[in-house]
Amino acid sequence: MIPDSFIQDLLARVDIVDVVERYVPLKKGGANYSARCPFHNEKSPSFTVSPTKQFYYCFGCGAKGSAIGFVMEYAGLGFREAVQELASGIGLKVPEDEPSGRVREAGQPYEKAAAGAADLYELMTQAVDFYRNELKKSSRAIEYLKGRGLTGEIAARFRIGYAPDGWTPLAQAFPDYQSKLLVDCGLVKEPEEEESTKSDGQRIDGQKKRYDRFRDRIMFPIINQRGQVIGFGGRVLDKGEPKYLNSPETPIFDKGRELYGLPQARLAIRETGTVVVVEGYMDVVALAQHGVANCVAALGTATTPAHVQKLMKQADRIVFCFDGDTAGRKAAWRALENSLAHLADDRLLSFVFLPQGEDPDSFVRKNGNTAFIELQKNATPLSQYLLDHLSENINLKTPEGRSQLLHTAKPLILQIAAPGLRLQLFKRVAELAGVSQNEVEQLYSARANVAVRPPAPARAGRRAPVARNFHQLLQLVALEPALAKRLDLELFDRDTEAGGAAHALVEWITNDEDSSHTPAMLFEHFRGSAVESFLGGNELNSLRDKFDQADMERDFDNLQLALRSTRYQEEMDELLAKAANAHLSAEEDRRFMQLSRELQSLKSTQSSPN
Ligand code: UTP
Ligand code: MN
Repeated sequence: MIPDSFIQDLLARVDIVDVVERYVPLKKGGANYSARCPFHNEKSPSFTVSPTKQFYYCFGCGAKGSAIGFVMEYAGLGFREAVQELASGIGLKVPEDEPSGRVREAGQPYEKAAAGAADLYELMTQAVDFYRNELKKSSRAIEYLKGRGLTGEIAARFRIGYAPDGWTPLAQAFPDYQSKLLVDCGLVKEPEEEESTKSDGQRIDGQKKRYDRFRDRIMFPIINQRGQVIGFGGRVLDKGEPKYLNSPETPIFDKGRELYGLPQARLAIRETGTVVVVEGYMDVVALAQHGVANCVAALGTATTPAHVQKLMKQADRIVFCFDGDTAGRKAAWRALENSLAHLADDRLLSFVFLPQGEDPDSFVRKNGNTAFIELQKNATPLSQYLLDHLSENINLKTPEGRSQLLHTAKPLILQIAAPGLRLQLFKRVAELAGVSQNEVEQLYSARANVAVRPPAPARAGRRAPVARNFHQLLQLVALEPALAKRLDLELFDRDTEAGGAAHALVEWITNDEDSSHTPAMLFEHFRGSAVESFLGGNELNSLRDKFDQADMERDFDNLQLALRSTRYQEEMDELLAKAANAHLSAEEDRRFMQLSRELQSLKSTQSSPN
């Protein structure tokens, strides 16, 4: 962990305009700067950088953050590396971690902790060069790749190599084979004490010694968007377990965020406006060999939300193409589930299901690239896949089957972030279930539940739109901290997540007596905390003018009014439901009248133009 005070200090000293400008040319317009967004394709600039807020925001795709966030996103760096990059630019030294949790060997002094990530990248690059050179020397490895239909050109493009057999071949590439950094970057394995009874590992003079992680394998380097080598996948040449061995997570390798083949695919993705996601290293390489160059693979099988977010920044169309087996179908469904919360109405996600027993590699080799591209054209849109899958084993001819569909679709549809698609799905589910759209919306809203079991506690499940209002309010406060004073904390129940976040935000802002905190500092302060999830998302696109304070205030007031009236309405509904079965007390009667008056006056405030 880097201390918060250091981060705050760093953000006070760098200027986000300089930082962004290193990568993206900016145009000044009014108080802010703008550009075409580097994170999504667009024709007119909706990417805005505010020097006063030290914050960037894309009103098209919702990308946003501080200077640190920008470097992370744009250059594909981890948090620590991004901080390091910014700090070194202004001559600040990042305080070093105490090595925590790691057991020091007795008598050994602390090593200088946290060697710069730069050192690890450098080692990885040396390893790639070594493995590539070894490939040239191994006719067995060359024959294997040829046997899989790959040319030398493609092998070079993907920097494929070969890790020779033996315990310590990397010692030839690294004279300082004992360096801790080789273990840190996952190339070399340290024998573990508890494992001394196992047979793995080499034994010299009765002592176990460190050894290469990858031995006798075809090596696929994993390269990030900056062109840095961050990990490897290594495939056995013959039979053997595991078929693919991957680098462990290291300071420079976070599996859940990386996509294999992205740097090689980038240009083709831009040109086609489409990114194809496949399962395996070999699928990516074989497709490229056949001229289908816009493909990437998630590492391992699961597509994470971080992957989806990254993919959405690359192209307007995302096609998931998984193997035609049970594992492939599972992977496709996982991808769907992890995509819902990140969908946008200007993005198209679809799914290709290959024939049983085929993977993209075998398919393209058998049928050629036009057949593969044809498959993509006929891909199943996400919405259809969702409904097909849910309807698979149920009988829609029966009321039970139809209600089951309503039931299983609910949590999925409510997660969908794209309002248009969500609406379409409401309609489709209604059709399939033989009810009206209105009835579906009723069924899916928390209010329906309140009606059937009165009196519900006041804070019973908020409906999704309400949650979105909360979310938007908090985002506005984060971007315009002066609004914190106007936030009615009574609307935010401290015991709920949104409420906890609201209180934490307001406390942090009001503690800043001389108002020297920028939104950038606020976002970084809450990075990784529960509050962060309320600051993310893509909900402020409706802002009329970019970062215009008056607009933000007006939006803020309207949202808060809407929330307040919902709150009153809910309480009235509860009283009404109660009144249906029992007499209201005098107290409750008064409360009802009061609520109704408040609601009236709120409505008149809301409907009056500004
Ligand atoms: P597959 O088993 O489908 O292999 O694994 P593949 O891609 O078809 O590879 P070839 O054609 O046999 O060479 C798909 C992906 O799952 C991960 C790898 O990323 C692989 O590319 N995987 C698979 C592993 O990480 N470890 C394994 O042991 C197997
Ligand atoms: Mn395969």
